Amino acid sequence: MSVSTAAVDQSVCAPLPVLGGDVTVPLVTGGEVAYAALDYAASAPALQRVWDDVAAYAPYYGSVHRGAGYLSQLSTELFENARAAVAEFLGCRDGDQVVFTRSTTDSLNLLAAVLPAGCQVFVFETEHHASLLPWRNARVTYLDAPRTPDEAVTTLERALADRDPYGPALVCVTGASNVTGELWPVRELAAAAHAHGARIVLDAAQLAPHHPVSVRDLDVDWVAFSGHKLYAPFGSGVLAGRADWLREAEPYLAGGGASRKVTRRADGGVDVEWHDSAARHEAGSPNVIGAYAIASACKALTEAGFDALVAREQYLIGKVRAGLAEVPEVKVLSLFGDDAPRVGVLSFVVEGWNSSHFAAALSAEYGIGVRDGLFCAHPLVRTLLGSDPQTQGECGAPEAAPGEKSLNAIRVSFGAGTPDEHVVRFVHAVRELVRDGAQWNYRTEDGRCVPAV
Ligand SMILES: Cc1ncc(COP(=O)(O)O)c(C=O)c1O
Repeated sequence: MSVSTAAVDQSVCAPLPVLGGDVTVPLVTGGEVAYAALDYAASAPALQRVWDDVAAYAPYYGSVHRGAGYLSQLSTELFENARAAVAEFLGCRDGDQVVFTRSTTDSLNLLAAVLPAGCQVFVFETEHHASLLPWRNARVTYLDAPRTPDEAVTTLERALADRDPYGPALVCVTGASNVTGELWPVRELAAAAHAHGARIVLDAAQLAPHHPVSVRDLDVDWVAFSGHKLYAPFGSGVLAGRADWLREAEPYLAGGGASRKVTRRADGGVDVEWHDSAARHEAGSPNVIGAYAIASACKALTEAGFDALVAREQYLIGKVRAGLAEVPEVKVLSLFGDDAPRVGVLSFVVEGWNSSHFAAALSAEYGIGVRDGLFCAHPLVRTLLGSDPQTQGECGAPEAAPGEKSLNAIRVSFGAGTPDEHVVRFVHAVRELVRDGAQWNYRTEDGRCVPAV
């Protein structure tokens, strides 16, 4: 396989060092190649800096909050400092709380669990399932996919105008789509929500790794993101924002750490006083290393500078889009159109190819890791593909014959650690696969395409 490396634009900064950059993987066609991790939207590799910080801290690791020993006190301090670092990274307001969770999914489920009684929730059908599904105990209004950012705002305004004006309401919106990479008009949606007395939570799972996110500047009430998409894959996530709903609700998990005082009553029962701080929703032993890793990533990205990171990513996006545009069989999926601002996440279908087959060939023949399927955003992908809502799920879509609509898509995604060579190899591989076809036989196993050997 010969890959031409296009000239590097010198005005663009170098990729940040990440783990796994020197890992090689076998090709079915023989030999090995450096793995091209182009699935950042699912999970990004750890920043070297995060890994180094965690390794330096690990010998000093100790239980937090309850331990009397030196390392326990040190760990408690680092854990609380991590909270402060995340608050600074997110531009939190005075009085906001930063709760460490397991992930964005966990953060949004936590928020769903603390909604005031009678809360109405408004969410676009285009959201990731983590934003679409947690609101089962609320009155949810699902909004149709808008075709422009302006339409998103007017759709929301219309829906909010019809709501019960006296009850609490919450809007949940993503900052950047995990399918198209397109940016949503968060500030405008927040203004619309507040104008109608509603609150808004920003799902920043795909935005925070690529763009600065400021709770204050965007004027959102909460923000949620995951460490493993922010180059800190140690099992932690964040929900940050207004303290009142969090403080007024029962703890998300009941247990030690969340409780300040527990007493037996005369009638034999138990009374509990819960903490008012973030600890109220962090029952059990917290994931100190996960929190510490997130704080390290926040500092590393801030020090690298988002201006430089965004410039580099836009340069990579330009390369990928220009390369795919030269392959007429490739159709890039988009809600807001070609000119929409976006992050390094791009989904596409290839005429005559089953997406699982195409992704398997990229992996097996070129050492490139992408994702195929409906990306936990089934309604959005089906809308973009124009496919029947009742069609099959993520796996096992039948082969799309030439001229037929594909039922799944392929997603390529990248970020701060991606070298030019990965996207150059990807574009080359797409071109070659479309032109020459796969060089290997593939079969379906558990609904997925895999090399036949
Ligand atoms: C936009 C968006 N929101 C939420 C999530 C859920 O993140 P996690 O799986 O880390 O909970 C994802 C994951 O892909 C996502 O892309």
